[in-house]
Parts: sequence; structure tokens; C-alpha cells
Amino acid sequence: MRMLITNIKELLQVRPIAPTKVAGTQMQELPVLADAWLYMEDGIIKDFGTDLGDLEHYSKKAQTLIDATGRMVLPAFCDSHTHLVYAGSREKEYVDKIKGLSYEEIAKRGGGILNSAKRLNQATETELFDAAWQRLEEIMHLGTGAVEIKSGYGLTTDSELKILRVIRQLKEKSPLNIKATFLGAHAVPAEYKGNQEEYVNLVINEMIPMVAGEGLADYIDVFCDRGFFTPIDTERILMAGIKFGLKPKIHANELDFSGGIQVGVKYSALSVDHLECTGDEEIQALLNSETMPTLLPGAALFLGLEYPPARKMIEAGLPIALASDYNPGSSPSGNMQLIMSLGSIVLRMLPQEVINAVTINGAYAMGLEEQLGSITIGKKANLILTKPISSYAFLPYAFGSNKVEKIIINGIVQ
Ligand code: NIG
Ligand code: FE
Repeated sequence: MRMLITNIKELLQVRPIAPTKVAGTQMQELPVLADAWLYMEDGIIKDFGTDLGDLEHYSKKAQTLIDATGRMVLPAFCDSHTHLVYAGSREKEYVDKIKGLSYEEIAKRGGGILNSAKRLNQATETELFDAAWQRLEEIMHLGTGAVEIKSGYGLTTDSELKILRVIRQLKEKSPLNIKATFLGAHAVPAEYKGNQEEYVNLVINEMIPMVAGEGLADYIDVFCDRGFFTPIDTERILMAGIKFGLKPKIHANELDFSGGIQVGVKYSALSVDHLECTGDEEIQALLNSETMPTLLPGAALFLGLEYPPARKMIEAGLPIALASDYNPGSSPSGNMQLIMSLGSIVLRMLPQEVINAVTINGAYAMGLEEQLGSITIGKKANLILTKPISSYAFLPYAFGSNKVEKIIINGIVQ
């Protein structure tokens, strides 16, 4: 399949030699090529530029031509943190929240993650697959080209394996790049209340070996926070996962200065995610690491939390990735365009910073920086063609409307 896009008003995130991630002041740099064309073959970016001679050459070779007059092209979003395999929804808790209950109060009453786990236990693999498939389709048409999906609504060995098998099926059937993360330590099941250590033992001694034995996960996650898992639980679980080849990628510092960021850095986590509670010590720990700080403003908005200090983090020299956290309890949306807007509006990130955060840095946060996240020859042709827009700042600016006209995955318009 050979495709050429011509008359691109601006080709965004053009990186002839792509860095693995961008940090600090580099986040403000968004390389752009005006009046450009892009040629792809067999799902791979083969060439791009502005030269009219080359354009003529590729016009003859291409089987499909797209005229992008007035439109922009950019790498599809890499959503590095979701929980999109789940059963049912939780709008009753949402109403409780409106009435004043906090996320932790809801969780203590058996709502929250445990509520989703109860429903998931009753769902079949087919039901879970069908619901997740619809969500995948929806986010793909909103611009997502790669997505990480976590388990964590099972909380028994069988149900955790069930979710991970659904993710495996999604990987096989969807054109999107999908990464799977095992999150057995998402919440302590009611039967283990007061006996958290025993549940941690189950995760370590039974779940991790089975998950790894079936090759069902790429990463290991723990919800390391007040009221959930302690840094000591987290260390034990991460060590066990690492032994089985699972790289950490953890939930940290959403509800408190929990020590989660430091534990993640200590175990070379690919990313630490949420980070509403980030201070100088946490920033210092991250600065000496390869761990990607990943912010989830959809969850902070939905739960009414204080936002993470994104500006302070960038000004200290850190990179930032933004992800949706798509899940039924704290962020029932996988719309990365909305996440970009929240990045600008509530985290005060510049348009070029949010675009970097959802492309190149998102790709890094899911281990796909070699294949995705920038317009680079040899990378996959996972691209967004926007509607006609006045400038790239319009992308985060026009919040709530869909600016994506076409999504191209592996060089094919979906
Ligand atoms: O990332 N913080 C932990 N886990 C999810 C929420 C899960 C839920 O409430 O169902 C999150 O926000
Ligand atoms: Fe999450």
C-alpha cells in the first residue's frame, strides 16, 4: 500500500533524527514543516518534505492520494495509561461524588475499584472484549494510534488472567499498537481486608508467575498510595515482576505524598503516573532518572483533585507525558484531544508542550519510542489528518470538539 498526502498546511512533530523523549525547555520545541507532503509505503513513513521534484516522483508511485489542503498532519496520539477493559459503568458513584463524597470515602464503602471488580467477575471474556472493542474504536477515531491497557479490575487470579487475555485478543485484532500492564495490586479485595500482606503474597506468588508464564503482560503496575498499597508492598511486587521480565510502570502520588514516585524511580519504572502530590523531593528523584512523569488531568478533573505542578516540573527540566487514564471510576473518557485541552487549560502547558506530551513522550512511556511518536522516516505511519484548522494551537484550544478528520493506522485510513 503506497499513499501520498499532499498540500499539508503544517506537518507537525517532524524529527529527522528522533530523540527518545523531550524534557524541560525542549518541550516547547515543536518542529514543523509548512506546505509539505508525506509518502508512506507498507505502513511505514518512507519520506516527507517540501521539494516539488520529489513530490512528482512520489505522485507517480502512490496508489492513494490525499489532498490535505488547509489541514495538518501529526503523529497519532500514544495514550500510555488506560484501564479500558471493564464491565459496566459507575455513574451512581459519580452522583455520590457530586453530592460530596470523596473518592476514598466511596472506595471505603465497597464502591470504587471493588465495585468494578464485582461486575467484571460476572462478565464473560466475550462481553468484556465487545465493550472494550467499542471503546478502542471510539478512541481511535478521536486520534489515538497506540494505547496501554491495564488489568486491575479482576483482583482474583482467574479474573486478572481473564482481563489480560481480553487485552491479548485486542492486540491480535486491533490495528492499534497495544501494550498490556498487569495491575493485580490495584485495590485490596474485601476478603483480604486487614490482611493486605496476604493479598500481596498472592500477587507475588501466584498471579505474577501465571501472568508471565502465559506472556500476558509487558509491564507491572501497583497503585502505590494512601489507603491502597504501601511503598513496601510496592517494592516487593515490583521486585517480583522484574524477576519475570516485567518492567514497572506505576500509579503514584495521586492521593498523597506516598513515596510512590521514589519507589518507581528506584526500580527504574518506565513511568510514574498521576503525580498530583509532587514536591521538590519528588522532582529531584525524577531528575536523576529515565522514568517518564505521566500526568492524567482527566482523573484530577473528574475527582476534583489538586492538579500536579506541571509548570514547576517542566521548569525544573523534567519531561511530561499526558494520558487519559480511561476507566469507569476516575476518568470515563479516552478522548486524548480533551486531555490536550486540559493539559493547556488546567496544567498551563503550551500547545507545543501538550503535543509533545501526547506524541513523543507518550510513545516513550509505553516503550514505543522507536516506532511511534514523531514524523521520522522508518517509523510507523500512524497519523492524524486534522480538519481544516487555523494553527496547531487550535487543537488544545477548541476543547470539546473533534478536530480529527481522518486517522491513518499502519498507512491505512481507518
Ligand atoms: O488510575 N488510581 C487508581 N486507579 C484508577 C481508578 C480506578 C477506579 O476508580 O476504578 C486511576 O485513576
Ligand atoms: Fe490509572
